[in-house]
Amino acid sequence: MKKILITGASGFIGSFLCEKGIELGYEVWAGVRKTSSREFLQHPELNFIVLNFEDKDILRSQLGEFKSKNGRFDFMIHNAGITKSSNMEDYRSINFLNTRNFIEVITENDMIPDKFLFTSSLAAFGPGKDNSSEPIRLDQKPEPVNLYGKSKLEAEQYIQSQEKLKYIILRPTGVYGPRERDYLFIFKMINSGLEFYLGSDIQKLTFIFVKDLIRVYFDAIESGLTNKSYFLSESKWYETHTFYSLIKRELNKKSFRVIMPIWIIELLAFVNECIGKISGNYPTLNKDKLRILKATNWICETKQLKEELNFEAEYDLDKGIKETVRWYKENGWIK
Ligand SMILES: NC(=O)c1ccc[n+]([C@@H]2O[C@H](COP(=O)([O-])OP(=O)(O)OC[C@H]3O[C@@H](n4cnc5c(N)ncnc54)[C@H](OP(=O)(O)O)[C@@H]3O)[C@@H](O)[C@H]2O)c1
Repeated sequence: MKKILITGASGFIGSFLCEKGIELGYEVWAGVRKTSSREFLQHPELNFIVLNFEDKDILRSQLGEFKSKNGRFDFMIHNAGITKSSNMEDYRSINFLNTRNFIEVITENDMIPDKFLFTSSLAAFGPGKDNSSEPIRLDQKPEPVNLYGKSKLEAEQYIQSQEKLKYIILRPTGVYGPRERDYLFIFKMINSGLEFYLGSDIQKLTFIFVKDLIRVYFDAIESGLTNKSYFLSESKWYETHTFYSLIKRELNKKSFRVIMPIWIIELLAFVNECIGKISGNYPTLNKDKLRILKATNWICETKQLKEELNFEAEYDLDKGIKETVRWYKENGWIK
């Protein structure tokens, strides 16, 4: 049985990766923190390893102990990361420095796997040209517009500089589905009868349903491909209005359309951040995220994903939203 380590296992994407790994017959090791929730890591065949990416000495001994008992991992998916924080320095330290610590330690411990997958983000490339339907291309120069995207890009560049590492970099666009807590904010807003728009420009958005996303990881592991990068997205793009309409239809709600000027949203993001700093709960809408949210073109190139990994989304937005709303309701996340 091939051993796979999945970091960030306790999160939205990580929990689905763990389940899929077990379903496909891997020996799955969920990389968690001592404090991580195990709410969605209940499968009886799941193994756990506590990892501390911040402290290289501790990480070295945690991974060293694993190796002496179990040997090395065949595959690793480094998926741990943050998309929001009250502390601007966290982006770089968690998304980049922790990734570097991890790779340095597995190199020193002679634990380099057969393949190392890294969850980056489309944000590492930044949005496409405003008022255009030209997709963000894989061969263009990355131009991230926020700290989150910059931290992912720095991690990518470090990974690409490692001669011994056989890597695949995956750059998802917006991922949605059951268990997801950020888009949930939009579903709840519409459920309460409001649909907010950031300014009056048409936004071209892209999405990938979580179950489509995780198939790509395992297809990439099982393929002969190495040292490649892909954007992960459904090939279709959607206007914000269409996204909201599909949610509305599924929730069977009527909602009131509010077009918010960008400056009001900026003010709201600032206030949200101040509250977040005091309460310790970091808000979905914050200044760094706003740089991404207000961009108008998130169309990205997916032909390489189709040609090289044979990817075809099983879920378009319509089907994915149906399943997401059903799950939110069944689990009481939306009343
Ligand atoms: N969701 C999206 O739309 C999207 C799009 C593009 C890329 N991504 C990337 O996908 C990955 C997973 O995101 P997600 O949406 O599943 O987010 P999530 O639900 O917030 O999960 C994040 C995971 O990372 C772990 N983590 C955070 N800081 C850590 C640290 N300092 N040390 C160890 N583990 C840490 C969390 O552990 P705890 O539970 O202990 O906090 C959690 O397991 C991230 O790298 C994110 O940047 C997400």
